[in-house]
Amino acid sequence: MTMNENAIAILGGTGDQGLGLALRFARAGRSVVIGSRKLDRAVAAVKKVVSAVPGADVTGFENAEATMRAPLVILSVPFEHTIATVKGIRASLAPEQIVVSMGVPLATAIGDRAARTLGVWQGSCAELVAALVPPGVAVVSAFQNVSAHRLQALDDPVECDVLVSGEREPRQRVMALCELVPGLRGVDGGPLENARIVESLTALLIGLTVRYQVPEGFGIRFTGLPAS
Ligand SMILES: NC(=O)c1ccc[n+]([C@@H]2O[C@H](COP(=O)([O-])OP(=O)(O)OC[C@H]3O[C@@H](n4cnc5c(N)ncnc54)[C@H](OP(=O)(O)O)[C@@H]3O)[C@@H](O)[C@H]2O)c1
Repeated sequence: MTMNENAIAILGGTGDQGLGLALRFARAGRSVVIGSRKLDRAVAAVKKVVSAVPGADVTGFENAEATMRAPLVILSVPFEHTIATVKGIRASLAPEQIVVSMGVPLATAIGDRAARTLGVWQGSCAELVAALVPPGVAVVSAFQNVSAHRLQALDDPVECDVLVSGEREPRQRVMALCELVPGLRGVDGGPLENARIVESLTALLIGLTVRYQVPEGFGIRFTGLPAS
């Protein structure tokens, strides 16, 4: 199988956040590969994308197959399913691929509140993913603070800064990806260990949506950054 260098695979692209990213990347003209545990769910998500973005270049496969079809693979599953999902695609990953961790260790994983996070031994969901992927595969943390609702509102800009953390070269590639979505701006979040700060911000944002009664979700903006 030849890998399409333009493609972006989204595992769990059947869910709210993954589908939102799929819609946005498809609209930007990128080739999107939706992964799911079940082929029929992936195919149903493909239909949703094509219906919202006529002419979209989007295909659907089971997660392991989707992983082999793109240089960049976004993990879009709830935190508590991260380990099983990464173990399920481990044999499909090859050196030079980039895995983007978007997961947040929300305390909902143990039945507690979404506005709290759990302690993760490795420091963050992204560092947990980094401990699981084969050698040569880069892990980058991004998109945790972006609202699924706002991603899916295709006619509006998303208006959010995206802190991107990981090794320099893959980090820059994921920062460039942010610019495909109107309103998103990639911000250099430094090394992967900073993911623990970024992930906990999501719990804070969820609390804000409740206190300010904005179910569509908030974005975050940094001021004073030099234009890139
Ligand atoms: N929703 C948001 O606004 C938001 C914002 C920022 C970050 N995030 C992060 O983005 C990720 C996805 O969020 P989401 O809201 O899209 O989640 P979700 O809709 O609850 O789930 C996403 C996908 O995960 C897969 N999944 C569900 N149960 C699973 C299991 N037992 N084992 C393996 N895979 C399972 C499902 O895909 P299949 O059934 O097709 O396999 C599902 O469609 C999470 O890590 C979340 O923290 C979400």
